[in-house]
Amino acid sequence: MLSLKSIDLKKVKTETLIIPVCEDRDIHDDKTVSSLITKAKKLKEFKGDKGEEIVFYTPPEIKAGRVIFMGLGKLEKLNAESLRAFAGKAVKKCINMKLTEVLIGCPSAKKIKMEMPLPLEAIIEGAYLGNHLFDKYKEEKKHSSLKNISFLVKPDVAKSSGKILKSITTICEGTIFARDLINTPSNDKKPEQFTKIITDTAKKENLRVKIFDEKELKRKKFGAMLAVAAGSESKPRMIVLEYNPKGAKKTVALVGKGVTFDSGGINLKPTGSLEEMKSDMSGAAAVAATLIALAKLKPKTKVIGIIPVVENMPSGNASRPGDIVKSYSGKTVEILNTDAEGRLILIDAISYVIKQYKPQILIDIATLTGACVIALGEKIAGVFSSDDELAQSIISSGEKTHERCWHMPLPDDYKEDLKSDFADFKNIAGSRWGGAITAALFLSEFVGDTRWAHIDIAGPSYMKKGNAYCGVGGTGFGVRLFCDLLEKL
Ligand code: BES
Ligand code: MG
Ligand code: ZN
Repeated sequence: MLSLKSIDLKKVKTETLIIPVCEDRDIHDDKTVSSLITKAKKLKEFKGDKGEEIVFYTPPEIKAGRVIFMGLGKLEKLNAESLRAFAGKAVKKCINMKLTEVLIGCPSAKKIKMEMPLPLEAIIEGAYLGNHLFDKYKEEKKHSSLKNISFLVKPDVAKSSGKILKSITTICEGTIFARDLINTPSNDKKPEQFTKIITDTAKKENLRVKIFDEKELKRKKFGAMLAVAAGSESKPRMIVLEYNPKGAKKTVALVGKGVTFDSGGINLKPTGSLEEMKSDMSGAAAVAATLIALAKLKPKTKVIGIIPVVENMPSGNASRPGDIVKSYSGKTVEILNTDAEGRLILIDAISYVIKQYKPQILIDIATLTGACVIALGEKIAGVFSSDDELAQSIISSGEKTHERCWHMPLPDDYKEDLKSDFADFKNIAGSRWGGAITAALFLSEFVGDTRWAHIDIAGPSYMKKGNAYCGVGGTGFGVRLFCDLLEKL
């Protein structure tokens, strides 16, 4: 449970109070908090430097079991991301101390001079996300999430920020939903199961849900997608989620790559980090979680989520290099590498959503290429779009949510590389250089003149090491970004 509180610390009992402290400036409105800080700073061992911590037990001035001071460093270095990290770290510390609840003394927006997002928003986000751990598969549970997290704010803020608290909670819940899906092992999220988890939740939120099974996919001629699914015992699915508010003027389509496991197929991937390919459905998770969140946030735009779900496996039935398939669009593709499967399922989903829903804007999100990770590293996603305005909106939502994106080029002349000797296209370019770009260009051949952007999240969708507000594994990248973007569009 998360709540905003404006209480007199001298009168109201609290188990644990956490106070973030700047090294060079007082950032708090609450006078009691400020005087506690002055007292803490009189000690040699605490100055508010970044990372410093000190605990006062049962301080005489207030009715708290303990006060934990946490250093943030200099004010000029402070930003939304460092506040998220502070809050995540604060919650983790309380969990490690076996506590069950905490009150976080929130700094004043005015004194920090932060607007988008407000310091309070960043702190709520960090605390909510930091409170969660994926331990479903551990018989011996060591983590016990805090039951109550409260935020100490001024009375007017407590009154006016209820809505913000609710919307952040909803968006973070979505992020956790996506993280849990990504962390779920592939033996427990085969396409049919994966589809059920998503659609059961979507139905509860009153989204309109359609599921195409293999028979339907064959009837509708989703040839590229079926070619990827062919090698697996588990049959493919296409999920359509519709959020359709009254009076909507615009339709946005979100397409998410849902490969529940990417072995590479006949072009089998080598041992190394094959197990991480359980995360090859991170785009799908982001789209599903976003739609589920939107059902509660209720923005005015109509949003369609399209999720092709397959498992990419080698077998006697699997597609072979050299196979030629006819995609939903009617264009043919020569599959020269079965490991370039993401683009095959995406083009069918993209063609279908354009034909069926005629969206004004189409954004796909996918763990598409290792090349994008080479280009931008593990923390930044690549945005590909010839629509600068759309790309810029995505990038600025990414800045606000710290789901960082970088605008990548779509050079026309690189398209040459995708021409096949035997079919309309081949699914990989002749050279491996610029692989993230040629993958995006391949998709671009199927979007027509719809305003379109592609986000390659192969890097930031998964973390080998956790951070202050995300555990090891799926990050849920895209959910917070999309929720912010769709509010704007
Ligand atoms: N799912 C992978 C991309 C990926 C790589 C995601 C690393 C996350 C981390 C994708 O299906 C793939 O295998 N891409 C190939 C494309 C190549 C065959 C042109 C790649 O990146 O090697
Ligand atoms: Mg692959
Ligand atoms: Zn893949």
